[in-house]
Amino acid sequence: MSVLRIEQATKKFGGLVAVDHVSFELAVQGISGLVGPNGSGKTTLFHLISGFYKLDSGSIYYRDVPISGLPPHVISRMGLVRTFQQTRVLPFMTTLDNLMASAPDQAGERLSAVFFERGKVKQEETRYRERAHEILDKLQLGRVANELAGNLSYGQQRLLELGRVLMARPKIVLLDEPTAGINPTLIRKIMEILMQLRDQGIKIFLIEHNMPFVSEMCDEVFVLDAGKLIFHGTPQQARRDQGVIDAYLGREEHVA
Ligand SMILES: Nc1ncnc2c1ncn2[C@@H]1O[C@H](COP(=O)(O)OP(=O)(O)O)[C@@H](O)[C@H]1O
Ligand SMILES: [Mg+2]
Repeated sequence: MSVLRIEQATKKFGGLVAVDHVSFELAVQGISGLVGPNGSGKTTLFHLISGFYKLDSGSIYYRDVPISGLPPHVISRMGLVRTFQQTRVLPFMTTLDNLMASAPDQAGERLSAVFFERGKVKQEETRYRERAHEILDKLQLGRVANELAGNLSYGQQRLLELGRVLMARPKIVLLDEPTAGINPTLIRKIMEILMQLRDQGIKIFLIEHNMPFVSEMCDEVFVLDAGKLIFHGTPQQARRDQGVIDAYLGREEHVA
């Protein structure tokens, strides 16, 4: 079984081809990275995979099932869960309630359950609450469980976002720049959590600019440049690949 396969994925914005006939398949296990200069199409590709954007052409398969065209909530319920480059927590809810709101398939949301299965709804809520507290402890957010999420530090909000992903019991997690704007201690924390998830058999696919992080964490990397896939291999191979080096240097020269 393949976990995620992309075939000739293309997305245009007007005349700009943001993702240009990209094809690849992720290794079934471990951590896969998606890297490339700014504007190379990484976030757009994540939007395509998670159903937030529609492909202009091509197809995407999750566990050999075509998911192109399915809405985001259906894809996430299938076990493919993502975070965003910009942190998205619910600021006027407590930290704990942010997690509760991400629990999958809540019986309490089904009308029949509200009327006929009150006991069951309560039980399920208790289970989710326990799970939410376990996750908060793991993320060291237990102390701020009842604090409004909007009052947490930026780093804590990023951890909470990861917590929301965990609450959804994903099979594969897509993370868009999980360490952006975060201090080194928290980056370590995030690395530990991701390694634990990987060891539990959860597949991880992440976009990351922090190259030491990529080298340490990723088993394989895919490199995009101007919407095209230009490299697939280990991070060590990527660092020595002339095409990859040129892609990065080319952009930096423009900036400088
Ligand atoms: N919604 C959009 N409308 C128009 N252009 C977009 C949109 N989203 C992204 N782009 C453009 O597509 C290209 C790829 O962007 P993006 O996927 O965000 O790159 P990355 O995440 O690699 O930095 C960029 O040139 C960007 O300006
Ligand atoms: Mg991006």
